[in-house]
Amino acid sequence: MSSTRRRRPIVAIDGPAASGKSTTARAVADALGFQHIDSGALYRAVTLIALELPEPPERWRAEELVTRARALGVSLARSSAAGALEVMVQGRSVGERLRGDAVTREVSRVAALGPVRDFVNGLIRAAAPDGGVVLDGRDIGTAVFPDAEVKVFLVADPEERARRRLAERGSTPDAMGVRAEADALVRRDERDASRDVAPLVRAPDAVLLDTTALSFEQQVRAIVDLARQRAPSLDRTGGGG
Ligand code: CDP
Repeated sequence: MSSTRRRRPIVAIDGPAASGKSTTARAVADALGFQHIDSGALYRAVTLIALELPEPPERWRAEELVTRARALGVSLARSSAAGALEVMVQGRSVGERLRGDAVTREVSRVAALGPVRDFVNGLIRAAAPDGGVVLDGRDIGTAVFPDAEVKVFLVADPEERARRRLAERGSTPDAMGVRAEADALVRRDERDASRDVAPLVRAPDAVLLDTTALSFEQQVRAIVDLARQRAPSLDRTGGGG
């Protein structure tokens, strides 16, 4: 059932686009003294470097993308000894460049490619060999760490997700803008849910958390409480790490 090697617990937070996974996961990791890994940022990094190719996205080939990602050093690393794990390209943190429109438009296409998923999962597993990590994505609880002690599937109404995403970008959302953003999020969810490899789906043992009417603090607390229930060792090992 589980490996014989003892490791610290793993918290998997999956769910659709803009459901607040990454910010929530980071806060949960801080509360537990764990590392945070944003798996979506790795798919975004591979997409960012794919966009520099001369070929249009329909002609991108999985093996070529992986070779390029390796050559350019797409990786997870800390920029300082005490820092958080960040996505690096050529030894530099890529941060906000991952959130651009062109990347967001093409990332689901890149994430549907099996060899790209194998590459990303290799980086994730290598960065968390002993657990003690909170990961967010689409397939963490189903495919990457199916034996995670704590699994949460985070959902929220599409319009609420759209409002949050627009507010995050600093725009003042009007009704039409919210509608358009919600449509784009739902289309991306459909692509992620209908792909053959590791589709977006709730793991049978994941706790469904609808955050539509929750404040950020409430959703973080709900997951931290769940983690302490599911992994009682956290009270001894968590904190400060
Ligand atoms: O922040 P947002 O919810 O918009 O997306 P993200 O978490 O940055 O993920 C971007 C895209 O990467 C998703 O739409 C998926 O296509 C892909 N992804 C994935 O396939 N598997 C993961 N574990 C994480 C992300």
